[in-house]
Amino acid sequence: MDNSHKTQKGGVMSGFKSFTPLAQSLPASVPFVGPETSERASGKLFSARIGANENGFGFSPIVQKTIEEEAHLSWRYGDPESFDLKNAISAKLGVEFNQIVVGEGIDSLLGLMVRMIVEPGVPVVTSIGAYPTFNFHVTGFGGQLHAVPYKDDREDLGALLDKVRETKAPLVYFANPDNPMGTWWSSEDIVEFAKNLPATTMLILDEAYVEMAPEEAVPAMTAFLDMPNVVRMRTFSKAYGLAGLRVGYVIGQKDTIAMFERVRNHFGMSRLSQKAALAAINDDAWLEKVLGLISNSRKKIEKIAENYGFKAILSATNFVTIDCGRDGDYARNILKELMDRGIFVRMPGVAPLDRCIRVSVGPDEEIDRLAAALKEVVAQIN
Ligand SMILES: Cc1ncc(COP(=O)(O)O)c(C=O)c1O
Repeated sequence: MDNSHKTQKGGVMSGFKSFTPLAQSLPASVPFVGPETSERASGKLFSARIGANENGFGFSPIVQKTIEEEAHLSWRYGDPESFDLKNAISAKLGVEFNQIVVGEGIDSLLGLMVRMIVEPGVPVVTSIGAYPTFNFHVTGFGGQLHAVPYKDDREDLGALLDKVRETKAPLVYFANPDNPMGTWWSSEDIVEFAKNLPATTMLILDEAYVEMAPEEAVPAMTAFLDMPNVVRMRTFSKAYGLAGLRVGYVIGQKDTIAMFERVRNHFGMSRLSQKAALAAINDDAWLEKVLGLISNSRKKIEKIAENYGFKAILSATNFVTIDCGRDGDYARNILKELMDRGIFVRMPGVAPLDRCIRVSVGPDEEIDRLAAALKEVVAQIN
């Protein structure tokens, strides 16, 4: 095979020569291979879609109705200010309108924040095995990642702080609750961490799973009022079940938020996404119901894990990370066997977290299929 068009890192070199050296040097890998890609590769559809931390319970009937009513107006661009949605978020959280920016999911907003801070060679701090899409953006802008290990299956706030001080990084990423472990820190610990950061270091506090977290894990909206170097990122993809519509937002001091206006894709938010998110945030009754379903599903997954001698790690999210009790190869084997049986689950990418598999909550039928498949897999591999 002719490999002359391959870069050292496995990227494909285009015949077009004017891409930046940085773009040409990037690896061709993506942070997550989608379940659809796996389905195409295997030629089989998954019977349980419980791997991407989507919300298998879907969105509220009011959102459904809104989408049906509004779809025909999708010939229009969305409001570039997401005015109504921002107003609703502002009212719900008790923060000012100009303390919020809406974007195409946290994934996109992470990219914007990185773009504003990271140039080639700039150090950035995160945890080994933390959310890979953040790393993807940092690498994409030429940043130098410095990652510290988890401690007791939680991100290690002390080690993150030490690494920031050592590298003088202007950006640090921390998710609470965390993905992929589902663990969390208390709000006091997080506020203390933020206060100890140099004023020149921006903290991205990724709160993708915040709606599922216990109150003690969620700093008050006033906690970072005097800190221009903290942003909180939230999403409609998890508790609200709108992953496919791509709606996220950032909360921060207004001057920090104003910076997003300089780089964001002003017409990135579709009209339908804005309408659906607005309907979702106004439907508290559904949110409460779905949080109950999530909590029950988590318990069900925990029980299944325990039935097979595994340990479920206590989770504040819509997934349960299951410690399979041995090394990464063992967990990877379980994952592969589950995938081969039509069960889409994922696992952390690096040791020692990769002794686990990660199962998203979902409707009972899908979790029952997981249980049946796990029974076979455990019998086969032990
Ligand atoms: C920690 C974390 N941040 C962000 C996201 C993605 O959020 P969004 O769908 O808003 O891009 C995820 C999704 O899995 C996540 O786990």
